[in-house]
Amino acid sequence: MPGNRYPMTVEVFPDYAAMSGRAAEIVVELLQEKPDAVLGLPTGSTPLGFYDALVASGVSLAQARTFNLDEYLGLPRTHPESYYSFMKRALYDRSDLRPENCHIPDGNAPDPHEECRCYEEAIRAAGGLDILVLGVGHNGHIGFNEPGSQWDARTRVVDLAESTRRANARFFNSLDEVPRQAITMGIGTILEARRILLLASGQEKAPAVRDMVESAPTPDVPATALQLHPNVTVLLDREAAALLHR
Ligand code: GLP
Repeated sequence: MPGNRYPMTVEVFPDYAAMSGRAAEIVVELLQEKPDAVLGLPTGSTPLGFYDALVASGVSLAQARTFNLDEYLGLPRTHPESYYSFMKRALYDRSDLRPENCHIPDGNAPDPHEECRCYEEAIRAAGGLDILVLGVGHNGHIGFNEPGSQWDARTRVVDLAESTRRANARFFNSLDEVPRQAITMGIGTILEARRILLLASGQEKAPAVRDMVESAPTPDVPATALQLHPNVTVLLDREAAALLHR
């Protein structure tokens, strides 16, 4: 694999609340230093506590800019499970973020490929991501970069792995309703963030966490690409850390 490998900083917390609080603390510190910071943000169950702690901190996001990692393709924005709706509930409606500063790929753009190009351009125009908060999928995906994704990939349209659709089916009435495609920042986009915070909680994430931190980098486990980034902090609860050797 190309590039140097860097040891990841791993912090383990007694529980989910402590892990979430630490993630918020890091982002609050950044915002205190740089109120107009550019934040890359995730969706999923994992970051809910982080958003709660960020809101509870009372930090101002009035000058911050945000870019979400991904969005389902073809799901109406108003659908309760669109990532836009998720972000409205988790953060947009609970903070002083300005709507024009909140970016999320438009999964209903008439030309999704052009949407991806414009999204990359918007990140660049904002000066790049100061920090990117990530979760990890059971199969090691980051954003919606499924196993086999190229490491220089940019924001693009992707097919979702069946295992990811099954994992996310819990949010929909049936597996059939889960979209088959999404727009996601690419691993190349992710690796350009100046700092990366990866959050994982619960024993079902332990195998992916072990591979991400300890296996040789391989496209079979997309999260192992993070070993090529010099500034990654992994925040775990005890269960997610259970299979780490060190
Ligand atoms: C989703 C998202 C990812 C997220 C992952 C884990 O499919 N696209 O960005 O990190 O799955 O989600 P959860 O935190 O719910 O386990």
